Amino acid sequence: MRKTALLFVLLVVLAACSSSGSPKGQPVTTDASTPSEAYSFPAEFLFGSATAGFQVEKGNTAADWWVWANTQNRIANGDHPDRGGPDALAHVDDDVALLTSSGQRVYRFSIEWSRLYPTREQFDRDEPDATAVASYSRLLDALSLAKIVPMVTLHHFASPSWLSDPTKPNDPEAWERSEMGALFATFAARVATRWGHQVDWWVTINEPLNAAIGGYVQGSFPPGQILAIDRALSVVKATARAHALAYDAIHEKDTRDADGDGRAAWVSPALHQRTFHPYDPESQADKDATAHVQGLWNRWFADVIVFGNWDDDFDGKLDGANDRTSDVTLRGRADYLGFNYYSDTLVSASRGIVLPVINAAIYQAAMPTERPKTDTRWDIYPEGMGTVLDELKAYGLPLFITENGIADAVDQNRARFVLEHLREVSRAISRGADVRGYLHWSLIDNFEWASGFCPRFGLATYDPDNGRRTERASLLVYTRVIANKRVEQRDIDTLPAYANGTTCP
Ligand code: FCB
Repeated sequence: MRKTALLFVLLVVLAACSSSGSPKGQPVTTDASTPSEAYSFPAEFLFGSATAGFQVEKGNTAADWWVWANTQNRIANGDHPDRGGPDALAHVDDDVALLTSSGQRVYRFSIEWSRLYPTREQFDRDEPDATAVASYSRLLDALSLAKIVPMVTLHHFASPSWLSDPTKPNDPEAWERSEMGALFATFAARVATRWGHQVDWWVTINEPLNAAIGGYVQGSFPPGQILAIDRALSVVKATARAHALAYDAIHEKDTRDADGDGRAAWVSPALHQRTFHPYDPESQADKDATAHVQGLWNRWFADVIVFGNWDDDFDGKLDGANDRTSDVTLRGRADYLGFNYYSDTLVSASRGIVLPVINAAIYQAAMPTERPKTDTRWDIYPEGMGTVLDELKAYGLPLFITENGIADAVDQNRARFVLEHLREVSRAISRGADVRGYLHWSLIDNFEWASGFCPRFGLATYDPDNGRRTERASLLVYTRVIANKRVEQRDIDTLPAYANGTTCP
């Protein structure tokens, strides 16, 4: 570990010890009569929540996802973000009030490329849409006034429709277009130039692997291709290169340190980390497939942008003709590793749809496990948070949990989910992970891509008629954790056991 990192961990540990009176992860007595274990967090740990532009804004008409949402049978129940969404840009004060009243200190949201530059002509002339500039400025000003740290995502699944046309799925779209990476870096540079004085935390691309799978393997994202593996892999590679270009562009333009921590820009993608288990625990073939898929999914992208190691054929080894190590155009392009963690995965070498290249079938929902399920039928698996933190710790960079959450329309499991995941975060910190913050997905219910509005991920909900926000009970539990900077085992124990999700099969 580098000296500075070591020093930081030491300071963090000291700070946590002095605020809780006990080392993290150790039992402390919180009340004279009832001892309870407590899992604490460093004083400067950032608690907050996340959203994404297309999921919470209305009228994002120049996004490929808007075209997609207007296409019949693409979105569950015919939902559309313009019909009954939370309309975040019209409710900036309400959302900032939610953040403030719960003590959240960081808010991740996206500045939408297609909203800022709805046409190619505007982009080429650098004439951003004035209303869009005003809207994002207003949000950033409101956050700044409330002393909430902004984390800005530059690409969260949606691309401008002038670069991605879902009506022409056989053409190269978005990241497949050779100009996309350079244009994205230009966009990043412009955003960093305009708002860098207010923003230190940047997410370049959200979940590049999921975007490739959604668009080219499952067909649930534009351009809706199914099992187009070669195109999916070319997208993954293009996003890795585009990230590196955007990283350089942001650092070139954002030289202003907004929060006074000595660094003007912290740049990372938001990776999506998962845990993986063999479908059949007795099968050696399933175990081998699991190790292969786990390596690709959890490490391929990070290996490129941290070490410059390029596994061109995705075989998990660096011995192919086009593989390379320590590529100077790619390595060292992460100041921290941002990642989303939701759940576990089962991997089979033979059962189900065995995908080429990875030679495995993947299960992520409705898995035959004993674990409780969310409304989207994902396993609730808090231990996995600790596993992925331990894995990422090996990269030697600060970590930031850019998303973690649960579809839970009736809010029966969210409080326990938050506490149990944060307990794992605290434990991982005590094992040496340098975790800077946790963002719950999501601040508010929103448009959950192809699943429409049914999955409810919000700490708060809203009235679709007038946008009025209402806090869920679980937000109050999160509020208490934030205030105390620790999770009490006693609080977990008083909550009801998990119940299986009820809606949105
Ligand atoms: C993540 C996405 C986010 C949201 C959550 C539930 O994969 O980044 O936009 O859809 O899942």
